[in-house]
Amino acid sequence: MKLFDVYPLFPIEPVRAQGSWLWDAEGKKYLDLYGGHAVISIGHGHPHYVRMLKEQLDRIAFYSNSVKNSLQEQLSEKLGRLCGYPNHSLFLCNSGAEANENALKLASFVTGRKKVIAFKKAFHGRTSGAVAATDNAKIVAPFNAGHDIIFLPLNDREAIRQHLDEQVAAVILEGIQGVGGIHVPDDSFVSFLADEAKQKGALLILDEVQSGYGRTGRFFAHQFANIVPDLITIAKGMGNGFPVGGVLIHPAIRPWHGMLGTTFGGNYLACAAALAVLDVIEEENLMANAEQLGTFWMQELRKMPAITQVRGRGLMIGFDLPEHWRHLRQELLQEHRIFTGEAKPNTVRLLPSLAMTKAEAERLLEALHTTINQPLHA
Ligand SMILES: Cc1ncc(COP(=O)(O)O)c(C=O)c1O
Repeated sequence: MKLFDVYPLFPIEPVRAQGSWLWDAEGKKYLDLYGGHAVISIGHGHPHYVRMLKEQLDRIAFYSNSVKNSLQEQLSEKLGRLCGYPNHSLFLCNSGAEANENALKLASFVTGRKKVIAFKKAFHGRTSGAVAATDNAKIVAPFNAGHDIIFLPLNDREAIRQHLDEQVAAVILEGIQGVGGIHVPDDSFVSFLADEAKQKGALLILDEVQSGYGRTGRFFAHQFANIVPDLITIAKGMGNGFPVGGVLIHPAIRPWHGMLGTTFGGNYLACAAALAVLDVIEEENLMANAEQLGTFWMQELRKMPAITQVRGRGLMIGFDLPEHWRHLRQELLQEHRIFTGEAKPNTVRLLPSLAMTKAEAERLLEALHTTINQPLHA
């Protein structure tokens, strides 16, 4: 059987990883500033993470959600404390799309409505509701297109006033738009949106799948706007590579047995991975590191005349280049062995581990200096 060929592949196969580094079979070493798409939060192969998973595997790896699982309780307690929402509840699932699918479903259950407002350039995943709320017609099949969803421009208050009415179940917004090219919503717009949604009885879903888990220097990107969303979705950095996702649910939303469910969500290994990640974020002060190195990178990138725009917060950064530099990412990989992310047409995305060091951050600046021939410290 062949693999279903849906991914354009780099001709590189990492076989080993540690911290911010990857090695291929020939021993070539690569700096990972992409984090496997914002997934590697605490660094590859962190010893605490590896030990927690190995020890859990020796005890019990899986049983169903029909029995008590204290690891889930430990995880929700620790997550609630670290993220600043101790009174929200946690529903555990396996991926970002699944988290958004469950959040949309919850909003619809709670309000009895089905209309959803999403934003231009949004990405929320590939499952039916999540992909329908994604602003990319190419990946929406006719089967997914029956949802009642409209896309409004980000930061446009007038559009919200016009369309956010008593028919709307949910407004779904990324903490920072990732796949769309690193677009940070204005804090004042986010707080306006939260007020408007509340007035109309619609729920506000903050998709923090990519922007959450300390990446911006705060636990969640929306915390810069001082709002409390009804639903917050998480995945990516949560398991540092182990598949796990979740929905944080406002205490006003009441559960009933059977309302949501999943076979694998919250399994023992996923909880062990997620607990290890939180331990390391807390003990190694990774949010402060993300904030400091993100500020350093953005300051230095803004000094480079060839770069037309730099956007982001903490270690979620995008920078734009003119058309003739569209091959920069390939060049960084081939010449300098540095992995970065992209957003079409010309944005380079930086999503490294939150444990990246300053020396590693400087490697990128040196490579850019050589490649686009700009002064390093203008
Ligand atoms: C903001 C956002 N939401 C949801 C998803 C979907 O997550 P997953 O691929 O785990 O389903 C992504 C993935 O890139 C994302 O960036």
